[in-house]
Amino acid sequence: MKILVTGGAGYIGSHTCVELLNAGFELVVIDDFSNSKPTVIEKIKTITGKDFSFYEMDYLNRSLLEKIFKENEIGAVINFAGYKAVGESVEKPIDYYINNVSGALVLLDTMKKYGVKKFVFSSSATVYGEPKKIPLTEDCHVGETTNPYGTTKLFIEQILKDIYRSDSTWDIAILRYFNPVGAHESGLIGEDPEGIPNNLMPYITKVASHELEKLSIFGNDYDTKDGTGVRDYIHVVDLAKGHVLALNKLDKEEKGLFVYNLGTGKGYSVLDIVKTYEKVNNVEIPYQITERRKGDIAIYYADPTKAKEELGFVASKTLDDMCQDAYRFASKK
Ligand code: UD1
Repeated sequence: MKILVTGGAGYIGSHTCVELLNAGFELVVIDDFSNSKPTVIEKIKTITGKDFSFYEMDYLNRSLLEKIFKENEIGAVINFAGYKAVGESVEKPIDYYINNVSGALVLLDTMKKYGVKKFVFSSSATVYGEPKKIPLTEDCHVGETTNPYGTTKLFIEQILKDIYRSDSTWDIAILRYFNPVGAHESGLIGEDPEGIPNNLMPYITKVASHELEKLSIFGNDYDTKDGTGVRDYIHVVDLAKGHVLALNKLDKEEKGLFVYNLGTGKGYSVLDIVKTYEKVNNVEIPYQITERRKGDIAIYYADPTKAKEELGFVASKTLDDMCQDAYRFASKK
């Protein structure tokens, strides 16, 4: 039985492929390289010393997808394919709904046709919208997402719940990621956004390597310990290992639709990140304080208890590791 990984050359997809191969799973990987590079496939093979089948294709291409299900004995699917830029999703909602929601539907319908009913979905903590309480537990209210990207995650979660309600022989894990950062310790794979990054860690990394002049910190008047926004940053390798544990859970007898937060349960401020990055990498990160970014929330972090109790998931990497690994990857490029 093989695991089909869609979007396997992307940031989280590539790290998950490494952890799956290390855990002994056989993989079939697809990616259209719309937001990743072909060299990543070779790097996954270099890191693990293992081989797998790769198809360059769009996961909306139903006939090619069917060919993969015919040619391989697929036992489960992990779906990383999808667009993820919050700002772009506001500009191009139709593209986001087609690629993320229609793509997931084509994939799920093909799975149904070939009798494959184990599915792991890359969701996001963004589905919680404005939190009613902190830390966020999986039973917190979801909805009122603030951008089409977040809404695609919310809609796909709903689609999965409806599928499971219609047929309880499906076995589904929804993983709600907090803020994935860092890179593989080899420095071979990591986050490599095109242009000016929107997210904090890739922006800091470009300041550290002098590609950008200084960081803008979006507000220092939040009700937090130093006034800057607090988030739950999780090392991408810890996050990737969460997918291996989720697959193991789906391999057990009991069927279900399971939802897990993947976070550390610790909140760090923007200034914590800047100071730690400077210290562990011996670099300077010039910054200025600017206006708050529209739609930002003061404090957002997970209660990771459920994933710990049911999956055995515990994030073990520290903030030092996250900052060091992010910089190592950028320096090696
Ligand atoms: C954002 C997305 C979320 C997505 C996540 C991926 C929104 C509303 N949410 O979360 O859907 O899953 O990225 O990691 O966009 N910051 C600065 N300066 C910068 C960039 C960020 O001060 O140049 C601050 C932000 O104000 C925030 C923190 O850094 O307090 C983290 O920001 P970011 O990395 O963009 O992640 P989120 O906003 O938490």
